[in-house]
Formats: sequence, structure tokens, C-alpha cells
Amino acid sequence: MAIAIIGGSGFSKKEFFNLIDKIEVETEFGKATLFEVKHKKKRLYFLPRHGTGHVVPPHLINYRANIKALKKVGVSRIISTTAVGTMNPSIEPGTFAIPDEFIDFTKRRDSTFSKENYVIHVDLSEPFCPEIRKAILIAFKSRNIEVTEKATYVVTEGPRFETPAEIRAFRILGGDVVGMTISPECVLARELEICYASLSLVTNYAAGISEKTLSATEVDDMMLEKGETIVEIILKSVDLIPEKAQCKCQKALLEAEP
Ligand code: HPA
Repeated sequence: MAIAIIGGSGFSKKEFFNLIDKIEVETEFGKATLFEVKHKKKRLYFLPRHGTGHVVPPHLINYRANIKALKKVGVSRIISTTAVGTMNPSIEPGTFAIPDEFIDFTKRRDSTFSKENYVIHVDLSEPFCPEIRKAILIAFKSRNIEVTEKATYVVTEGPRFETPAEIRAFRILGGDVVGMTISPECVLARELEICYASLSLVTNYAAGISEKTLSATEVDDMMLEKGETIVEIILKSVDLIPEKAQCKCQKALLEAEP
């Protein structure tokens, strides 16, 4: 079993992990760069979603190349990190959440591997892998760190932040946190039968929730501040993921083709 960590905003620094090797993987969708991580006897990879120097904005990330590359090297589980704003008064900046649902407002991303003569409709009744979510939750609890166990993640196209009216609308729709990257990443993982869950760091109040305006620096600073904790939680989660998957993620294509 190989596990991948996809690092998001403020979590692109490869120094966070004990890296062995840089690997460039060619796919039919383009090239992806990943790193092999040394952690006990595990096969672990690190893929910085925005590139190694945070050079790729959310709407231009080659999600298909990234996920396909992970599949190619044998990854069957993904833990991602995501930075989010909060629109739920009971979720505070500086705390963590483990999304269990998402609402997708992205507009122009390649969000499927389905194509002519390859029609698939994957089931997203449970969009995130329950086993990985559980491992992350136990990791947080074992360290006594505050975490929201379930959250609906609203995905926006970005790269701009939202307007207060958009956030009010998202809240009415049931959103708890807002970010720009979890979809199509989790959908593509499901289409390739890879388990996927995310650890979200709440970096700020969403637009209009507090008096403050939003800044990308604030998001990055918070990620940096919590970087060590995130690494610790991720590595603990990696240790807690059962060797053999009992979830349905790795059988997602069984009933997906009409
Ligand atoms: N909105 C969208 N994406 C984000 C935010 C936000 O408030 N914070 C961190 N990523």
C-alpha cells in the first residue's frame, strides 16, 4: 500500500518531510512532480498541489495529471491538506475540520477522467473515505487538538476570495467552510478508486463574517504556524490507516459504468 500526502496552500514546503527522492511522472494529461517521503517502513509520497514554490493557482492546477501520477506510482490512499475560511460561527480560525461533504461551485476545471467511449458516473453519497477520515480524527484526538469532525466544504473557482453575499448564500445552502481545491481532486481520486480525505486548517473567517478583510498572507501565515502540527497529525494518521481497505472507495467503478 502506498499513501500520498497532497500539500495545499502554505504547505508546499518539501522541508516539512524527510524526503528521499524527487520523481517526475509523465501521464497523458501532463507531468506531475512528487517526492518520496521516508517514514518508518511505509511507502509514502508528497505532492505539493501548487508546485514547489506555490506557483500554480487553484484554477490552473493540473488535477488530472496529479491524481493519475499518484495512481501510476501505486498510491491507493490520499490525505490532503486544505486551507479554508469559515462561515460557521462554531468553527473558529486556527482550528481544524475534517470535511465529510462538499458543494462544488467551480466553473472551468477538468473534473473527470470520463470521455467519449469511457462513460462513468461515480457514486459520491459518501464523498470522502470514511477510513481515512477516522484515522485523521483519531490522530487529532490522541493529541487533544480541537477538530470539527464533520464539515461541508464549499468549493469556489477562485483565485479571488468570495464576496460577503456569496458567503451568505453558501451558508444558507449548508456550507461550513470554503476553499478552492478539494474538488475536482477528491472526485478524480474516486474515479481512479483511490481513497481520499482531507484535513482542513481554518485559516480565516470567510468574507463578511468578521470586520476584517481577507488576505492571502494571512492564510499562508496560519498554515506556516500550524505546519508542524499538520505534519505530526498526518504522519500519525498514516500509521493509523488500516493496511487493507474495508471501505467502498476502492470499488468505486464496479457500478459506475452504464
Ligand atoms: N475562501 C476561499 N479559499 C480559502 C479561504 C477563503 O476564505 N481561506 C483559505 N482558503
